[in-house]
Amino acid sequence: MKTRQQIVAGNWKMNKNYGEGRELALEIVARLKLSDTKVVLCTPFIHLSLVQELINGVSNLYTGAQNCHQEDKGAYTGEISVEMLKSVGVSYVILGHSERREYFAESDELLAKKVDKVLAAGLLPIFCCGESLDIRDADTHIAHVEAQIKAGLFHLSAEDFAKVVIAYEPIWAIGTGRTASPEQAQDMHAAIRALLASKYGAEAADATSILYGGSVNGGNAAVLFAQPDVDGGLVGGASLKADEFITIVEATK
Ligand code: PGA
Repeated sequence: MKTRQQIVAGNWKMNKNYGEGRELALEIVARLKLSDTKVVLCTPFIHLSLVQELINGVSNLYTGAQNCHQEDKGAYTGEISVEMLKSVGVSYVILGHSERREYFAESDELLAKKVDKVLAAGLLPIFCCGESLDIRDADTHIAHVEAQIKAGLFHLSAEDFAKVVIAYEPIWAIGTGRTASPEQAQDMHAAIRALLASKYGAEAADATSILYGGSVNGGNAAVLFAQPDVDGGLVGGASLKADEFITIVEATK
């Protein structure tokens, strides 16, 4: 049994219409066994209100958004604010997912602003970092991830930093079926924790949940989560099937 908070977050990405999302959430609620692991359903925006209602009262089950805007409100067509998310009971917001960084050109600077906005609203960021295959092959992956974390998070006070969840997601492992080996995940997670310790101290670093993401499934979750510095997962494709997602949640210790 690990002492650090274990978290499994399902990132539905742009999948499931309203009815399908309702069904998936209902099945998860019905089958999830009570445990100490926090489970976060990061659905598309249209589902959040309904899913939040469905999970109300279920302990350790939360909703999360996949993005938010960095401003409070105003003329930002197509965007969503933290207050809107908060008003339907959302707890977490994924920030800096590699798909947002790549397809929507989200920079480190922008992400630092979003992190501030999320924390100021009393919500909890799941801050993503991770390297491309080129960077991994060049053996500069640790420096790359460290730079992302410094740029996105290191302006935070210790008090604010304590609310952050980090998700390490090597881009080459996302949606590819090619998972990082348990050793690769552990090495990076340990490097991240050492970096956090250098800035916020060993105790704060030790208390930070660092999730692994990238082709986590029912078959590989247990061995990944058994690594000492892996505190659960951010799960994409496998979060779209209730039975597999539950298997992944149950793989946390
Ligand atoms: P995947 O996605 O599990 O489908 O690889 C993970 C993620 O992008 O969060």
